[in-house]
Amino acid sequence: MPANLFRPSFGTYPHVLVGRDELVDEFADTFDGILDPAGLTVLLSGQRGMGKTVLLDSYRRAAEGAGWLVITESSSSGLLERLTRDHLPRLLQAHSDESPARLASASGTIGPLGGGASWTERYPAESTLRSQITELTDALRPSGRGLVITVDEVQAADIEDLRKLGEIIQYGRREDRLLAFAAAGLSTPIEELLDHPGTTFLRRAEHHPVGRVSRAEVRAALAGTIADSDREIDVQALDLAADAVDGYPFMIQLVGYHSLKAHRASGPITSKDVTEGIAAARRRLGRHIHAPALRPLSSVDRTYLLAMAQDEGPSRTAKIAERMGVNTTYAGQYRRRLIRDGIIEPAGHGFVRFTIPYTAEHLREHAAHDALEGLSSSEE
Ligand SMILES: Nc1ncnc2c1ncn2[C@@H]1O[C@H](COP(=O)(O)OP(=O)(O)OP(=O)(O)O)[C@@H](O)[C@H]1O
Ligand SMILES: [Mg+2]
Repeated sequence: MPANLFRPSFGTYPHVLVGRDELVDEFADTFDGILDPAGLTVLLSGQRGMGKTVLLDSYRRAAEGAGWLVITESSSSGLLERLTRDHLPRLLQAHSDESPARLASASGTIGPLGGGASWTERYPAESTLRSQITELTDALRPSGRGLVITVDEVQAADIEDLRKLGEIIQYGRREDRLLAFAAAGLSTPIEELLDHPGTTFLRRAEHHPVGRVSRAEVRAALAGTIADSDREIDVQALDLAADAVDGYPFMIQLVGYHSLKAHRASGPITSKDVTEGIAAARRRLGRHIHAPALRPLSSVDRTYLLAMAQDEGPSRTAKIAERMGVNTTYAGQYRRRLIRDGIIEPAGHGFVRFTIPYTAEHLREHAAHDALEGLSSSEE
């Protein structure tokens, strides 16, 4: 069977990355000796499936390409602990001239990664991280290399961890250290995070919103990946697929993958294969993106969205209020909240649209089911 190079899973680097050239070039410049310090603190935010984790990976690749050391983490609890007990002692052991003896003596008692214990004993907890980073960046400096810490899902971070990490990054800036920090997370919780007093350093980061890509780019990603998978595709079929993707990066992988899977005959991939592929892609999208995003919403939020879902394209906000049978001020409160939650976005003056494609279809398909649920819960 020929290869299928589409990668329809989260956090997986795509075979063809599209629409991010500018950002990827910027990342390369950051580590390419140019060292514009702005690029050393980066924040990527966007909705699910827009490609934030993939871009964080590009940042890592750019850094590693220039010889920098990279620590890749996500914001699960114990982030600082893992940095001070695992990552940094391991890197120090490999790269610091000064510490091998000290670390070796510690590792004798508590295992190969146990250097952290000696550090934690020697320094009060708060300063351990700073001392380790200072020593590591000092050791790397003569070779012109530095240290990068990337943190994914930063919206889930412990604020106290972030505050401490942020302080060290800021000291690092002041001391002109080769130290970089890149984080990625969901738009709305990030906005909330940025309001928090403990995250000043993130407010100063280069903030890149990660959104949809153009139709031409979608087409290029589809065509390139299909060609490298040793297949061909009809022009009409390619157009059909590009339309269905609607600029949404995750959908490039889903539609591509399932269209190739549906292509069983010999010859080029046809519109029939793509139609089958789109249906499968949409089922996956519903399960993995729409259902979890819509589940936590209140019934009034859903009513607002259902009123929107009656339109094919963007919805006029006044029309939504009319359909809901409420005044525009009342409807406006829900509009604001749904925008903040990233479910919908403004689409020109007085209009809104769904952020992720096929939300309207998903809502319409599930409306009957939801209405019944709403009825039974209101009877309780
Ligand atoms: N620019 C792109 N071109 C082609 N495919 C992409 C692009 N960006 C992301 N993808 C694909 O989309 C999918 C989702 O990407 P990724 O996991 O980076 O999203 P995310 O924004 O981190 O989502 P989440 O918020 O759920 O973590 C992956 O299959 C990835 O390969
Ligand atoms: Mg991600």
